[in-house]
Amino acid sequence: MTKQTRRQFLGTAAAGTAGLAVGATTACAAGQGVRPGPLPADQGFRFVHLTDIHVRRKRRGDDGYRTCVKSVNALRPAPDFVLMGGDMAFDGLYTERDEFEDQIGLFKEISSGLKMPYYECLGNHDLLGLSARRKVPVDDPEIGAKMIMDRLGMERSYYSFDHKGWHFVVLNTMEQVETASGPSYHGRISDEQLHWLGIDLAKASGMPTICVGHIAAFNNLAQVWNDFDLPAMYTRYVIRNNKDLRQVLERHKVKALLQGHSHRGEEYRYKDVWYLTSPSVSGAWWGGNWHDDKPGYTVFHCVGNQFTWERRYFEWEHHLEPEDNVERERIAELEAEKAEQRRLYEAELAAARSGI
Ligand SMILES: [Fe+2]
Repeated sequence: MTKQTRRQFLGTAAAGTAGLAVGATTACAAGQGVRPGPLPADQGFRFVHLTDIHVRRKRRGDDGYRTCVKSVNALRPAPDFVLMGGDMAFDGLYTERDEFEDQIGLFKEISSGLKMPYYECLGNHDLLGLSARRKVPVDDPEIGAKMIMDRLGMERSYYSFDHKGWHFVVLNTMEQVETASGPSYHGRISDEQLHWLGIDLAKASGMPTICVGHIAAFNNLAQVWNDFDLPAMYTRYVIRNNKDLRQVLERHKVKALLQGHSHRGEEYRYKDVWYLTSPSVSGAWWGGNWHDDKPGYTVFHCVGNQFTWERRYFEWEHHLEPEDNVERERIAELEAEKAEQRRLYEAELAAARSGI
């Protein structure tokens, strides 16, 4: 059963449990807390969310991104545009300046192969030197977002645009701060940006709206990993003022916030807003799958004022560097875990067949 079919089934089943005599179509309608089913294929438009690309030469990440671009260009019907989700270059936080600059150039060059326009979005790894592990002096004139914004020709770190009756907002989820170890960042929507967002959404009132940002407002990694030491509001994974952001989205009836950063496909719905994290383009920074999430992206389909989505994965064989021993161990652990799950499944089937 495909994921989408399973969700449709769950939607219908949930309505049935509540005693509602409704069919799958009604149960899956937008606004009911259930992901909409497929929309008429020949109507509306599509767009793609590419996040956590982390373009780099190491591990042949540049070839990996070229493969991704080829996959997006081959989509039919063709998407109208691509929304980037941040972490476009591998890393500026603790990578040498020249190498980071090269990665930005690679991102620009390979992205120019997309047959449709794309919209940039900043991620934490797109920031130069905002870490205690920085490789640039604290007074580097391009520290922070300036370097990548200049190289890519980004005029603003947050902005909005309209497309075929829909409104799209690109957010900057990192706020530069001063710490004891020099300039750094917090995952946070700046007060100035929140003020701008409320007015921008008010101007677009009545238009179906989707926002995109890098660091999530929602994720459940502590639960996914069964990690008691990982707080739900772990500030490396979730923006600090997520309630402030959520309330703006809720009062303006925004349909979805597209998220990145965790490199895991996740789907949540809260107060009629979808919080959707796409799988990362780079998997484990081009070192194989991140846990069990393969390199991939999400294709969105918008019709009228409804939208739906599907995950896409492209074929990519990872190439580790000689020094990548941690990655080798991680991949071996993951394979062992998967093999154990297959063994348990086969044992349970055999037990069921033998009537135990
Ligand atoms: Fe990332």
